[in-house]
Amino acid sequence: MPGPSRDAIGWKRDTEWRNTVWPGLIGASHPDRTRLRTDSYFDMKPALKTSSSGENTKVFDFTPRDFARVRSLIYKQAGIALAESKQEMVYSRLARRLRAKGLNSFGEYLDNLESGRDSEEWEAFTNALTTNLTSFFREAHHFPILAEHMRAMTGPLSVWCSASSTGEEPYSIAMTLCEAFGTLAPPVSIVATDIDTNVLETAANGVYPAERIDKMPQERVKRFFQKGKGERAGLVRVRPELRQLITFKPLNLLAGSWPLSGPFDAIFCRNVMIYFDKPTQSRILTRFVPLLKPEGLLFAGHSENFMYASDAFKLRGKTVYELDPRHGGARKPA
Ligand SMILES: C[S@@+](CC[C@H](N)C(=O)[O-])C[C@H]1O[C@@H](n2cnc3c(N)ncnc32)[C@H](O)[C@@H]1O
Repeated sequence: MPGPSRDAIGWKRDTEWRNTVWPGLIGASHPDRTRLRTDSYFDMKPALKTSSSGENTKVFDFTPRDFARVRSLIYKQAGIALAESKQEMVYSRLARRLRAKGLNSFGEYLDNLESGRDSEEWEAFTNALTTNLTSFFREAHHFPILAEHMRAMTGPLSVWCSASSTGEEPYSIAMTLCEAFGTLAPPVSIVATDIDTNVLETAANGVYPAERIDKMPQERVKRFFQKGKGERAGLVRVRPELRQLITFKPLNLLAGSWPLSGPFDAIFCRNVMIYFDKPTQSRILTRFVPLLKPEGLLFAGHSENFMYASDAFKLRGKTVYELDPRHGGARKPA
């Protein structure tokens, strides 16, 4: 399939890069979709009530046994190993679910989950307990490495972003590849997945508070974002061309099968393994092996070291891994 030249071809038409002003409404049918996950935390109804003595007390009892049950359930469901110190956080996030369900006790809520009486609640339970912190061009040193790597690769190119949260990471990948190939339609497909269906919705929508791109160079902002006006003032939206490069879909890294077709030229698995214990990390890394091309790269988060969890990968640079030759890697030891 003919595609743009792999060389840096420069920007073709200046008009393509106008900072188009995004008109007021994006669709009256789903105005809520522009709400970000982080906003919803601030909107939360209080999980505490103030007693006559002025102290904050919990609306629901949350016993150590309840907490232990939550920890066990989210570990089995998502691999997330919640620390002992997270009891308050878990209370405030799940108290909201109890209110939504009209329940009076954590025991009843957890019984319903475990018994399968409310199987649909698993999704909301999981969404409530994930941590979705992310930002555009987080761990910025990865992106020039990605650009150089992808320009050197041949054939249909693809990237998997395996814990994409609210989308800043896959859009940063997409922007990098547009710049690397000098076009808004680089010959690359990006699959962005996450277990959390709320963040995926935000990601697919591609709308963010303008302050999220405060630190981004103006040239890049103009190239890739549209500014909201009217009731969307203060928001920015990624250009539709960028969104078209990415397929968003739910994927639990713990699930028995992953709805993906690799192998990929690069896999991003950043700042999610920290929530898993070492056996879980090892299992996931083993499953990455056939999904990466022999020359492919695996990008990890700043505090993640995959060498402890798997011998299938070796470090190529700061938090960037490649397949060890004994596991199909193309690069022979020097
Ligand atoms: C801290 S965010 C990291 C986002 C992004 N990768 C980054 O580095 O900026 C962790 C993400 O991992 C996701 N996650 C947690 N457990 C997961 C699982 N079992 N499968 C897939 N995603 C998971 C969470 O929903 C969350 O969006």
